[in-house]
Amino acid sequence: MSMATGLDVRVAAKATEALDICSFELVAVDGKPLPAFSAGSHVDVTIGGLTRQYSLCNDPAETHRYLIAVLRDPATRGGSAGLHERVQVGDVIRISAPKNHFALAHDAGGHLLLAGGIGVTPILCMAERLAVMAAPFEMHYCARSRERMAFHDRIASSRFASHVQFHFDAGPAAQKFDIAGRLAEPMPGVHVYVCGPKGFMEAVLSTARAQGWPEAQLHYEFFSADVAPSASDDSFEVQLASSGRIVVVPKDKTVVQALAAAGVEVQTSCEQGVCGTCITRVLSGTPDHKDLYFTPEEHAANDQFTPCCSRSKSSRLVLDL
Ligand code: FES
Repeated sequence: MSMATGLDVRVAAKATEALDICSFELVAVDGKPLPAFSAGSHVDVTIGGLTRQYSLCNDPAETHRYLIAVLRDPATRGGSAGLHERVQVGDVIRISAPKNHFALAHDAGGHLLLAGGIGVTPILCMAERLAVMAAPFEMHYCARSRERMAFHDRIASSRFASHVQFHFDAGPAAQKFDIAGRLAEPMPGVHVYVCGPKGFMEAVLSTARAQGWPEAQLHYEFFSADVAPSASDDSFEVQLASSGRIVVVPKDKTVVQALAAAGVEVQTSCEQGVCGTCITRVLSGTPDHKDLYFTPEEHAANDQFTPCCSRSKSSRLVLDL
């Protein structure tokens, strides 16, 4: 696990923000300012042996606290349930320093922020920052219903409320977010940021790409992925370029697991192909990409992959390890 440079933080407040969504306010145990962060940053949180990424959703100008919000997801392996059930005010938990894989493009001429459900967390942080910068932006926030929409009142009473439109799946058709209409054609200089459930993100990204939005203007961060084994998964070999050693990856094991069994450790965090921690260079062979981290162009280059979940289309991959 990649928690070598961890921070111990105390839970200063825990609040219900919406149905199945709790926020946790985290402060430094020693009372000192926390490391600064930029809009779109996340921290790794380790609870019960599982490490998960949670975006910071407070104003990035704040240094006295980090605010995260967690959707209790019964379909996950327990990270979110552990936070909801076991972590209380006063507890000390270990997190990583903030990392940012979802940064604002500061040279953009405009920003289109698209949030679905709990995906609002990094988007909200971006809205706070853009409002301070007086940058042109528009935010659309989609949720299943009002009771499942976290931070509605904070947003509605914020300095940037006039930039935001709320959309509810359970509401009248006229107020639903029209992805195809809003992304009908690329807007020069406007950058699109999307975070939310996988289906929402894929709908936004596939629409934008089909309409010709340049990849450089699309920014996204997947929270979790369901990397299920597939019937076509087969065994293959990986070769360590440094030593020439060959390790067989059985069809029911990941590359990371097979390497660990052979005494070779690769740093991981999400183990679901969303965080990028395990990225490894591929020197030859063709990876079978299963992550949601790389862009289509990066996948096509086939010179790096995520060994926590991705496999191989060729019988051997030579890795820069
Ligand atoms: Fe997160 Fe592999 S550990 S992408």
